[in-house]
Amino acid sequence: MRILVINGPNLNMLGIREPDIYGRKTYADLEALIENYCKEKNVAVELFQSNHEGAIVEKIQQAYGKFDGIVINPAAYTHTSVAILDALKAVGIRTVEVHISDVSAREDFRRISYVRLYAEKTITGLGFDGYLRAIDHLL
Ligand code: DQA
Repeated sequence: MRILVINGPNLNMLGIREPDIYGRKTYADLEALIENYCKEKNVAVELFQSNHEGAIVEKIQQAYGKFDGIVINPAAYTHTSVAILDALKAVGIRTVEVHISDVSAREDFRRISYVRLYAEKTITGLGFDGYLRAIDHLL
């Protein structure tokens, strides 16, 4: 099993950004957590973070034929990006959507998710553990 984990804008600021919502652990902590878990489960994993919508679209396109599953936290692009939704549909790779916070309990605009229209499953509000549960689902 080869899994691509994609994190969208501002998730590289974990630990600094809004700690009351996202916690004090950093993006490097998140990478280590996912990498260790995948080692344990014998999963080949690649992590990708970008603040650019087009870069995320290109990464998804390049995943075609290379990955069996995608775990994606599109961050703010969740609520706006038809392009990311279309890229996932184009490659047809099994996908789980993850949000660290409980998006349903926040501002109304965070209730809309374009990626959810494609994702097999959406996991919200479990903090970093959500990524591990997404990997479990793909396995
Ligand atoms: C987020 C929730 C989004 O609404 C927000 O724009 C983010 C992070 C989350 O992980 O909880 O940047 O995707």
